[in-house]
Amino acid sequence: MLIALLPGDGIGPEVITQAKRVLDAVGLDGLIYEEAPVGGAAYKASGHPLPSETLDLAKRADAILFGAVGDPDCDALERHLRPEQAILGLRKELELFANLRPATLFPELAGASALRPEIATQIDLMIVRELNGDVYFGEKGMRKTADGKREGYDIMSYNEDEVRRIAHVGFKTAMARDQRLCSVDKANVLETSQLWRDVVIEVASEYPDIQLSHMYVDNCAMQLVRNPGQFDVIVTGNLFGDILSDQASMCAGSIGMLPSASLDSGGKGLYEPIHGSAPDIAGQGKANPLATILSAAMMLRYSLSMAEAADQIEAAVASALAAGARSADLGGTMSTSDMGDAVIAALASAG
Ligand code: NAD
Ligand code: IPM
Ligand code: MN
Repeated sequence: MLIALLPGDGIGPEVITQAKRVLDAVGLDGLIYEEAPVGGAAYKASGHPLPSETLDLAKRADAILFGAVGDPDCDALERHLRPEQAILGLRKELELFANLRPATLFPELAGASALRPEIATQIDLMIVRELNGDVYFGEKGMRKTADGKREGYDIMSYNEDEVRRIAHVGFKTAMARDQRLCSVDKANVLETSQLWRDVVIEVASEYPDIQLSHMYVDNCAMQLVRNPGQFDVIVTGNLFGDILSDQASMCAGSIGMLPSASLDSGGKGLYEPIHGSAPDIAGQGKANPLATILSAAMMLRYSLSMAEAADQIEAAVASALAAGARSADLGGTMSTSDMGDAVIAALASAG
């Protein structure tokens, strides 16, 4: 099994280093790693955020473990050269259309959540975010209006096939969980969302056991902090899923805790924390690597059929937290590598 390691920018390399240490500590046979530059690092080295060698490696690999991209030095570049285009390009080129973002609170972190502990402890949900369409990939540009003013535009659209395939992922995810699916849209205003809702309702007829509900995204943002325990699986579009998952992360303790899997229709996946390159703390050893370590566990489970090893890593993260491991975002003082050490120690003591 070939794993592509794409560390990227900012805290990306710091958190990937810890995830790789944890994978090594689990002692898995038959895994080969190849690393390649991506994002701002790749742009600075070779003039492109997603060099063809990196894309080739991602295509050849059985799974991809990704850190983060984004570099303030690159924010003024033409859009197609910006670091973020690398992750968007990988998602699109590899048809990684289904983004699973689980938000679960480790009970020890109830005090780190932005919510009151008795509300925070209820959170156990999965956001299924569509990743290949929406306003992210529509036509965009800058133009002048008739009276000479600057105008930016980004076309939002979904076709029914795109909605149908992510709806199936949402329903199947709910089947494997608590059988409840909430589809989040803005159908009161957007035609894109009206189609989304219509197609989700059509697909629902194939899943009679699933309790389907619909919610507008603004209400969902409110309900996530009012009572996150009401949600089992949320299925939503690319932009709404991006925003709601960052919000859900703070309900679950920290953005440094949430992993993700971006899957194609065949089981290949890219695994990354939901957070970015965090330039404000990069290079300081302050980043929480647990989201990336938990992403590595998702990789073992979803792409490499190594569910037992995934369980071991997740259990080690829980034990490390129970033993008091806390990085700054969780209210502690431990460094990125201290957090890696804590997980590795927990793995060792579990035998
Ligand atoms: P961010 O997620 O990088 O950071 C937001 C805040 O959360 C910052 O204060 C940061 O210090 C903190 N944070 C993030 N991850 C953390 C961790 N593991 N441990 C502790 N604290 C953590 O979002 P941003 O600041 O809006 O974006 C920074 C750059 O990252 C931008 O260039 C953006 O485009 C990029 N970005 C990339 C990805 C990705 O690669 N998939 C995701 C989100 C943002
Ligand atoms: C994420 C990020 C990306 C997104 C950016 C960096 C393109 O915010 O992975 O959540 O918007 O999808
Ligand atoms: Mn995001």
